[in-house]
Amino acid sequence: MNIRINENFKNINQSYLFSEIARRVNSYSTENPLAKVIRLGIGDVTLPLPASVINAMRAAVDEMADQATFRGYSPEHGYDFVREAVVRHYSRFSVSVSQDEIFVSDGAKSDIGNIVDILGNNRILIPDPVYPVYVDSNVMSGRKISYIPAGEENGFLPMPSEIDGDADGSVVYMCSPNNPTGAVYSAEQLAEWVAFAKKTGSLIIFDSAYEAFIGEEKNLPHTIYEIPGAKECAIEICSLSKTAGFTGTRCGWTVVPAELEASGLKLSAMWERRQATKFNGVPYVIQRAAEAALGDEGRQECMENINYYMKNAEMISSLMREKGIFFTGGENSPYIWLKCPNGMDSWKFFDYLLGEANVVGTPGAGFGKCGEGYFRLTSFGDRESTAEAVERLRKLL
Ligand code: MLT
Repeated sequence: MNIRINENFKNINQSYLFSEIARRVNSYSTENPLAKVIRLGIGDVTLPLPASVINAMRAAVDEMADQATFRGYSPEHGYDFVREAVVRHYSRFSVSVSQDEIFVSDGAKSDIGNIVDILGNNRILIPDPVYPVYVDSNVMSGRKISYIPAGEENGFLPMPSEIDGDADGSVVYMCSPNNPTGAVYSAEQLAEWVAFAKKTGSLIIFDSAYEAFIGEEKNLPHTIYEIPGAKECAIEICSLSKTAGFTGTRCGWTVVPAELEASGLKLSAMWERRQATKFNGVPYVIQRAAEAALGDEGRQECMENINYYMKNAEMISSLMREKGIFFTGGENSPYIWLKCPNGMDSWKFFDYLLGEANVVGTPGAGFGKCGEGYFRLTSFGDRESTAEAVERLRKLL
């Protein structure tokens, strides 16, 4: 063909991290059909949707079956009933956001990937290791990335003082509780980031997809807007995937505060415009499900599921303690981020666990250079498989 393509695609890994893992596991399973593989790789939930969510979906399906209550196109930024539910959700943390600052979406991944559409050529600061979508979406659009190393020395929580060079007008990506390391910023640390962003005129893109995993008794921020001044410098992207088991159901939201303005344009107006052109909203049935998940009963049920996963996390963490293997996470986070034993590199350790124990995890190197030598296990499996995986690892490690 004679067309020009987006040459930036030549600069990203040939396949997406979790697609690559799935490919390797499928090929292993084909060659070893009797192997009982346990997947603790991608953070995909295994418990069914909470009862109140299912009931809301059923009721919404009935509405769609009746001409009097049938709905066609949804408002592209979400029905008011979900936006109101998100407003109430933020009030749990004494944070006030208004309905028109909330944009309902089909999950955090899409919004993280798409937000680059409204941004120009800025310095992009991304912690390493990190959820690969921040990196890939910027590389696909031709942006250069400056990495902020995260490691044992800074508790996997890099701070603004560690940024090299001029950071004026940067776009900084943050995720807390962090994927993949499980590390969580304190309010004081986030306040330093907010002060940095305001001083340098930078924008923070804050991914709060794992907020619900923060232990109830922990005094840690669930949203960046708990930090005074954050609405003047941060967009927050959140998702029900992990909180409410919506990995296959798909619903999340992005908050673009009215205060954010650059070059004479409001970022919320730009995002509204972008979404109106390229996105047609989340299905009605799913938005009713999201409303239920965000309600008090739904949140209570979601927390029961999260407690179940956190017991899995505790089983994996205690094995790490027993074996003297360094790890972070497993607390305030569904992920256990461990150091590969005997100095093994992450993909080698992946092959070792798959081959010797038929357990799948995620190689740290897939999250960035600084992830080399580390490995991520998820606690989203069911109890029986997680217990079985722990037993196999106990024998192997
Ligand atoms: C993960 O395992 O890091 C996540 O499940 C991936 C995602 O949310 O896209």
